[in-house]
Amino acid sequence: MNRRLGVLISGRGSNLQAIIDAIASGSLRASIAIVISNRSDAAGLQRAEAAGIETLVLRPKEFADRGAYDRAIAQELKKRDIAVVCLAGYMRLIGQPLLDTFPNRILNIHPSLLPAFPGLDAQQQALAHGVRVAGATVHLVNEELDGGAIIAQASVAVLPDDTVQTLSARILEQEHRLYPNAIETILNGGWTVEGRRFLSSVMPPPAEV
Ligand code: GRF
Repeated sequence: MNRRLGVLISGRGSNLQAIIDAIASGSLRASIAIVISNRSDAAGLQRAEAAGIETLVLRPKEFADRGAYDRAIAQELKKRDIAVVCLAGYMRLIGQPLLDTFPNRILNIHPSLLPAFPGLDAQQQALAHGVRVAGATVHLVNEELDGGAIIAQASVAVLPDDTVQTLSARILEQEHRLYPNAIETILNGGWTVEGRRFLSSVMPPPAEV
């Protein structure tokens, strides 16, 4: 596997920035060949441009259906010989054309300890449920929403006076540490997926806070 990444975003792009920074510091040995956004107003596009990374906006409305959209993304990624696709705040479900093009090669980061609280507003869901521990998960992407094998997780305590904002900020700090490390693990190979389990001989122990 080569070490070329494609990153898909929809918004702020702070995880994209963490990946850019980890590459710059040498802790993640990879390059980002392209950043693709489904929205032209995604702030992450400017982060990519500032780092000299090629960007592309593909608007879903300009395609016949979801399949055609995902095929277009797959084609752009393949053209650039991408090994691993990183979803970083990408707010769309990944369809079969992309999954088939990159089997077990698409990663996502989610702001909860999956399988708890998949989907939107995970931090709000965690607060509403009253959990004492929240966190972040990096996982392989499959056809289920936030559903694939778990590569890495980090936990954070939920404090009595936490709001969605304060909890999200503490989780985000962990996301920025977790995601580049998980990408490095994937690129280094030596791992398999057995059923739901991601097994790696070189895996660091689970991160705890
Ligand atoms: C992060 O919380 C990530 O876990 C979730 O969406 C958010 C994206 O934030 N999937 P950013 O765009 O990376 O700043």
